[in-house]
Amino acid sequence: MNIRMESIVAARTTFNGREYDYFSGTGYLGLQSHPAVLRAAQEAIHRYGLTTATSRGGYGEHPLYDELERQACAYFGTEKMVCFASGYLGTAVLTQTSGHPNDHIFIDSSSHFSLWDAAQATNKPITPFHHCSADSLAENLRRELLANERPLVLSDGVFPISGEIAPLPEYLALVKPYNGLVFVDDAHAAGVLGKNGRGTPEYFDIESDRCQTSTTLSKALGGYGGVICGSADWIENIDRNTRVCVGASPPPLVIAAASARALEIARTTPQLRQQLWDNVRLARRSLRTLGWDLPDTHVPIICLNARSEINLERLKVGLFEQGIAVSHVRSYTSTPPGGALRIAIFASHTADQITRLVEELRRLL
Ligand SMILES: Cc1ncc(COP(=O)(O)O)c(C=O)c1O
Repeated sequence: MNIRMESIVAARTTFNGREYDYFSGTGYLGLQSHPAVLRAAQEAIHRYGLTTATSRGGYGEHPLYDELERQACAYFGTEKMVCFASGYLGTAVLTQTSGHPNDHIFIDSSSHFSLWDAAQATNKPITPFHHCSADSLAENLRRELLANERPLVLSDGVFPISGEIAPLPEYLALVKPYNGLVFVDDAHAAGVLGKNGRGTPEYFDIESDRCQTSTTLSKALGGYGGVICGSADWIENIDRNTRVCVGASPPPLVIAAASARALEIARTTPQLRQQLWDNVRLARRSLRTLGWDLPDTHVPIICLNARSEINLERLKVGLFEQGIAVSHVRSYTSTPPGGALRIAIFASHTADQITRLVEELRRLL
């Protein structure tokens, strides 16, 4: 069946003419359907049109990009921000900026496609290590790193299907003696993890220049586009010298306006994050009663692994018939062997929606 989304994405979303309890995608804070975010986009398009039709270096600076930078810096607590068209490009921006001729890349074997693409584009040696395993990284550093090489560790902060959190402090401790760096794609953690929702570095209390993070506004943070935030010097260097920033259009103006407003709401409404965490706790606790062993984290991606007696596709279809949309994932990066049901929890889900999801699953099992 061809399924088409026919409404604004929210906790209740219309597909093919029918409303569903929606537990998929990445709109964790529910900001994509926030009236103030939509209003910001409308006002921007009336006043400024879609894009500047030029790069930022060629007359393309704009008050809306200034506002996006103000809001991103206020959110992430940094001096400056650089934005680009897609979070997918984040690791490429980091490798283009902070790369060193003698880098040797060590990459989590289940990293997102974007990290693999960025690694391969460097033409440097690449050694994968076992998923989320600091022991495997240590072993590979010992075995593969040459005396003149600097290790560059690449990993997602939170993995998009498994919902696992990478053990970043252990990676940092391992690369420190070699003067190495850790590049983190924090697409699924920004807006969600840490006291202020700043992502995995805040969650782990990491304040080290060795840890460099790129993220996206298109998931929890309710807008669109890739961003890197940091010190003024570092960001100016990225802006001036990175091929992605010099050679590609920035996110459209309408998107910059909506993203700035969404960031402001995420920063000034911590109750949204608290509501998300409460919903995640309820969902994880209830789903454990169905026999899945789920860690107690704030990550709103709940991964129901394959079990020998369970047909995941039948569960997904059965839920859909009852008006509940979840994803059955077979091959996306970080999918566990045998596939998984991926359940995304939003701040805007009601407790009744979560309870109905769990009870329908119980009935189908
Ligand atoms: C870990 C990770 N990084 C990057 C991206 C891409 O981000 P964007 O959609 O902003 O291009 C995704 C998924 O969309 C992702 O899961």
